[in-house]
Amino acid sequence: MKFFIDTANLDQIKEAQDLGVLDGVTTNPSLMAKEGISGAENIINHYKKICDIVEGDVSAEVISTDFEGMIKEGEELAALHPQIVVKIPMIKEGIKAIKYLTGKGIRTNCTLVFSVGQALLAAKAGATYVSPFIGRLDDISTDGVELIAQIVEMYNYYGFETEVLAASIRHTMHIIQCMDAGADVSTCPLNAILGLLNHPLTDIGLEKFLADYKKVNG
Ligand code: G3P
Repeated sequence: MKFFIDTANLDQIKEAQDLGVLDGVTTNPSLMAKEGISGAENIINHYKKICDIVEGDVSAEVISTDFEGMIKEGEELAALHPQIVVKIPMIKEGIKAIKYLTGKGIRTNCTLVFSVGQALLAAKAGATYVSPFIGRLDDISTDGVELIAQIVEMYNYYGFETEVLAASIRHTMHIIQCMDAGADVSTCPLNAILGLLNHPLTDIGLEKFLADYKKVNG
């Protein structure tokens, strides 16, 4: 399973990259706003900075909601850097835009996916990634991880190549559950990734190894 970091914060992206296990980055307009990035030029420069830090895919989201606007923005974003994947919302015009951009050889990430039917449409349009939002489903008493499992099963059954990118991950256990469900990618906040490191027996074991070493070596 690939690890993407779900943030536009450059320090966090660097920290995850330094760990050596980062496969990419996902952003969205809310995450960009959280970092205070505004204005077309600043947004574009920010995507370029992210691409300079990481080696993998960087999802950059369009803000248009009409077909013409989405393909124009999509083509501009894709031209910024070969690592850019154009993030398109799961709406009727979005499906048309994914189909069009795929035909032009531009990679896409279909975002705001909340059902297996939406995931089917995204795959049929040729999306590179589909992003089901599991945390937001959990928020409304619906099993987000179960949706990941359903989409993985459906894609495997029909042989779709679209990768299942579990998004809206809120905590470390979500990552484990998405791995269990067969997600191709988990995009996570940094603290959820770092949470994978933790085990009290590791800390106890290391403390004992070091104490035993000190006993005989001083
Ligand atoms: O990857 C999508 C993500 O940014 C949304 O997360 O926590 O706002 O539901 P959240």
